Amino acid sequence: MTNSEIIKKIFLLFNDDKNEEFIEVAKEYIDREKRKNHTLVARELEKALFQKVNISPSQKRFKQEVPIPRDGEKGFPLLEIQHFDNYFEDLILSSETKSQLERVVNEFKDSDILATYNLSYKKKVLLCGAPGTGKTFSVQTISSLLQIPLVYIRFDAIVSSYLGETAGNLRKVFDFIENGTWIVLFDEVDIIGKNRDDSHEHGEIKRVVNNFLQMLDNFKGKSILFAATNHQNMLDSAIWRRFDEVIDYRLPTQDTRVKLFDRYLRCLKRSKDIDLKSVAKASKGLSPSDIEMIATEAMKTAIIDSRNELSVIDLDDAIKKFQKREKVKHKKL
Ligand SMILES: Nc1ncnc2c1ncn2[C@@H]1O[C@H](COP(=O)(O)OP(=O)(O)OP(=O)(O)O)[C@@H](O)[C@H]1O
Ligand SMILES: [Mg+2]
Repeated sequence: MTNSEIIKKIFLLFNDDKNEEFIEVAKEYIDREKRKNHTLVARELEKALFQKVNISPSQKRFKQEVPIPRDGEKGFPLLEIQHFDNYFEDLILSSETKSQLERVVNEFKDSDILATYNLSYKKKVLLCGAPGTGKTFSVQTISSLLQIPLVYIRFDAIVSSYLGETAGNLRKVFDFIENGTWIVLFDEVDIIGKNRDDSHEHGEIKRVVNNFLQMLDNFKGKSILFAATNHQNMLDSAIWRRFDEVIDYRLPTQDTRVKLFDRYLRCLKRSKDIDLKSVAKASKGLSPSDIEMIATEAMKTAIIDSRNELSVIDLDDAIKKFQKREKVKHKKL
């Protein structure tokens, strides 16, 4: 057994989640592994420890004191608190998009210094662009990086069922988030785009959006608020003005697709004949999420065939399968 296997076993045998001292020492060990750039080992150990004690790395630092707000009518929760342990390196984006995200993180980290100059960090960030390009994933990753839990809000769920209730629901959500430090994601703010055609609904939605924007304007807490959308057409100037930063997610370029395949195929040995550049060429127009799906499919084929190496055919077949699926989606059969 290697050293890390022994440690992992100790973490897994541990079964007293009240033993804070053990957890602290274990976390220190994991941090040291991270500092040595042993990311895979650190990740394995983190999983072993937190799976065992049933907490995520960030959860311990943030005790939630205020109850989660619920819809007045049906009583369903209006938001969800989520914990992630993603790695920033796993987010593969153009250097421009990534540095925009890094800037948001750095401003938040330096918010105290900025405040001494009477300046505020970027508090409201709008993420827009095609599906599967990493908008939600980026916010999850920032939550991991800053070790601050994510408050996840499905905007359309709050809005859709009872339009009349929406303002009240939004108020409850804002009251909750103003009470703590969070990474907040208003995901799928697409409702505005979806309801464009229906003029009655549209007027109502417009009111809701104005309401939302007002609450954004008056937001006082120390959090970062992200909103994500697929519909850039909602971006009239009133909305644009409200956000300190707008980040546009584009489909990956050839070079980025190579990186994505490399990342998502890393769990399995690859045949020397595989040329990721030509695989990436064959995947023009696909999103990171599509590429992840293709890579997973290809690796599974090799694994269930009891091969320990991925072949060119595995990848080709997975791409073909995906393209067929897309044709079904667009009814081109
Ligand atoms: N830029 C990326 N780098 C690495 N992996 C990615 C990236 N974008 C997406 N993925 C993978 O695809 C999954 C789905 O992406 P995500 O949910 O972030 O897309 P999205 O932009 O929010 O799409 P939608 O607009 O449909 O909500 C992610 O969980 C991740 O595994
Ligand atoms: Mg999303």
